Parts: sequence; C-alpha cells; structure tokens
Amino acid sequence: MHSSWLLVCIVLAAASLCAQKLGVGRAASPDEVKAWDIGISPDGRELPPGAGTSIEGKEVYDRRCKRCHGDAGKGGDETALVGGLGSLATPRPLKTVGSYWPKATTLFDYVRRAMPYKNPGSLSDAQVYAVTAYILNLNGIVGASDAMNAQTLPKVKMPNAGGFIPDSRPDTGAGKKKK
Ligand code: HEC
Repeated sequence: MHSSWLLVCIVLAAASLCAQKLGVGRAASPDEVKAWDIGISPDGRELPPGAGTSIEGKEVYDRRCKRCHGDAGKGGDETALVGGLGSLATPRPLKTVGSYWPKATTLFDYVRRAMPYKNPGSLSDAQVYAVTAYILNLNGIVGASDAMNAQTLPKVKMPNAGGFIPDSRPDTGAGKKKK
C-alpha cells in the first residue's frame, strides 16, 4: 500500500511538473477531488449521513435493479444477490452478497460506486442505504424495519465474515510489516 502510494505521488508530481512546464492542465479543485473520493473502508468510517430500511429499499430495487438482478435478488440476466448460503464448500458454490461477502460496508460502497450498472452515482445515499438494507434482509441478515446507517451498517455480521484468512505472504496483507 505504502509503495503504491509512493508511486502515485511520483506520477502525480511528474504530471504536475510537466503541466507547469507545458502550461497545460490545472490542479483539481477540492470539490472535484471530493466527487471522486467516495471509498468506504471495511470498518465503514467514511460512511455518509442518511439511512434507509429494507421496506424503503424494495421500492428502489424494483425500479432500479430488478430488471437485471431478478425478482427479490434471485438473479436474472445478471448475477444473483441472494442465496447460496452453505454452498461455498460444495462442488457448486454460489457466491452471492449473502453467502460470500464478508462486510456489509462493502455492499454500500459497491452499490454507490457501481450500480445501477448503466447509471452509477444516480442514487442518493439514503437510497443506497435502503437498497443495501433490502439485499441484506433478503439474505436473512437484517430485519425488514432495521434502519441501515453509518452506525448500524458496520455492526452487521455477515454469514461468511469468518471465511477469509489473512494473506501471510511477506509482501502483502498480514505479512507486511507496519511502518
Ligand atoms: C443494467 C443491468 C443492471 C442493473 C439495472 C443493476 N445491475 Fe447490479 N450488476 C450488473 C452487472 C453486469 C454486474 C456485474 C458487474 C461486474 O462484475 O463487473 C452487477 C453486479 C452487482 C453486484 C455485485 C454482485 C456480486 O456478488 O459480485 C451488486 C451487489 C449489484 N450489482 C447490485 C445492484 C443494485 C443494488 C442495483 C440497483 C440499484 C443494480 N445492481 C442494478 C448489472 C446491473
């Protein structure tokens, strides 16, 4: 991570030097940087204000997601978001948000940055919380009237949270020395 940031810095520094030399480009404004800076860590510390329940999320889902992911997330033209619990160790594993994903915060992050597929970024944060709650509810993980927000979402326990092991190779993950 640190070395990749170093590389990013070198590239950015070189780019801005070139820009100065050639008289092209300009520094990104704080608002422009903010528009791109939407990453949510697994611990959810960057989660925005807003909230939504599964009941509200069903409306969002039926209008914006169902035509690709099927009725109640069962899968249609695109991947299923529900089901597969207990299938991972079988010859026909079904990896879904419910059976595979270790963090509920990742679901919020993914939907906000990437869905609906042809129109990402078009949902409000409250709609993303609501549709996240709906997908979690369909998987039996949260109740229909449980509000998902910056406080509750990081506390959601995903069924496969314990199914991942830290990568112990020396150059990555758990094996990497903290600086
Ligand atoms: C036009 C079709 C389309 C619509 C509409 C759509 N999606 Fe998707 N969705 C996709 C495709 C295609 C992928 C796979 C993308 C990839 O792997 O890069 C995907 C992947 C996903 C995944 C990841 C699934 C996994 O296990 O990897 C989630 C979660 C998801 N979509 C949620 C949503 C939600 C929520 C909505 C509505 C707000 C939505 N999608 C609307 C096409 C769509």
